[in-house]
Amino acid sequence: MKVLVVGGGGREHAIIKELVKSDKVDTVICAPGNGGIADIAECFDVKAADIDGQCRLAVEQKADYVVVAPDDPLALGLVDRLEALGIPAFGPRANAAALEASKVFSKSLMKRYNIPTARYEVFSEPDEAIGYIRRTGAPLVVKADGLALGKGVYMCRTAEEGEDAVISLMKDAVFGASGRSVVIEEWLEGPEVTVLCFSDGDTLAEMPSSQDHKRAYDGDEGPNTGGMGAFSPSPHYTGEIAARCKREIFTPTLNALKSEGIEYKGVIYFGLMLTKDGPKVIEYNARFGDPETQCILPRLKSDLFEIFLATTYGGLDKLKIEWDGRPACCIVLASGGYPGKYSTGYVIEGLEESGGSVYHAGTKKEDGRYVTSGGRVLGITALGDGLKAARDLAYSYVKPISFKDMHYRRDIGKGF
Ligand code: AMP
Ligand code: GLY
Repeated sequence: MKVLVVGGGGREHAIIKELVKSDKVDTVICAPGNGGIADIAECFDVKAADIDGQCRLAVEQKADYVVVAPDDPLALGLVDRLEALGIPAFGPRANAAALEASKVFSKSLMKRYNIPTARYEVFSEPDEAIGYIRRTGAPLVVKADGLALGKGVYMCRTAEEGEDAVISLMKDAVFGASGRSVVIEEWLEGPEVTVLCFSDGDTLAEMPSSQDHKRAYDGDEGPNTGGMGAFSPSPHYTGEIAARCKREIFTPTLNALKSEGIEYKGVIYFGLMLTKDGPKVIEYNARFGDPETQCILPRLKSDLFEIFLATTYGGLDKLKIEWDGRPACCIVLASGGYPGKYSTGYVIEGLEESGGSVYHAGTKKEDGRYVTSGGRVLGITALGDGLKAARDLAYSYVKPISFKDMHYRRDIGKGF
């Protein structure tokens, strides 16, 4: 089979490294890909969100199956479009991807089906949102309804910060139409855990838990990023909590979608907060997380492509999915200045000397050398006998790697 993977970050590199191992896959191609992906899959210069271009590519290249990894093309209905062309695809259709693409949709689904989440109100008029904030006071969380590159969440310690967030999103429209409506939520406290589940519409198959580090600097300081590192499993996610999440959150979510007539196929990302009143949903994503995937898939022992096919055609309940019991830790190496302004085009040295699993995110190949081309440049993953061993090993694999102004956190997975 010939498989097209849509996307071009570390997550897609991790997915492709698994797919090329499958007996059922002859060829993997990728669009747009990156410098590291190009070593194992032919890459085509089509943007992930260019869904017309992706459909054309899939037809021209006679792809038998397409894996849609990022959020934008899912929300834009790439899976629906491919299906209409007779090409099966991994990922939810647009109506199911709304679980991530519209917070108003996901919050009202949770409210209607009693799925635990932060209390909230929705506003489409800025003056009403500001009036509400003045009446209820801080702390509170203001969120853009739509997709905003993971940056549409404002944690507000004071009412003034809340009002500023509403003005940025609704009046200044910093995220365009994504901020036309806002959700204002109560501020929850507790450790955060991520659980990804494969879904074939009827059955969920849980992957091992994980946790990412969203802030740019050590000690969870600095601005939010796409993720500076991750580890798996989370020591907070005990058997007891897992059973409760399954009973109160995972199964009810799939049932709620079914009751609404929505068939959810692909991966559901449950972003959870373990509050003193029990686990609550912070957010859903309609896809694999990045960089969580780079510490989860290296633990997968089964054939990823077989699992993908089961999500598309059913039968996930019959599949035995096996995982390596050893924890994994992934360190993201970023460009200096990221998530703000940064420069690119710097030569990356020392990759051959690193013993870890190297996932390329923002790289390209020039004259046979890898150079930086994005904010998050590489993810370096190690498995170890225990989280500390995995972390120490991952950091030792980072040591030989360098590029100008390279920046990374020194505390990924620390504190356990
Ligand atoms: P999201 O983009 O919805 O994942 O939010 C980004 C981050 O903001 C989450 O990972 C949490 O750390 C934080 N966050 C979002 N909503 C809440 C909330 N209601 N209470 C506390 N923290 C939150
Ligand atoms: N690491 C968070 C995300 O993929 O949304």
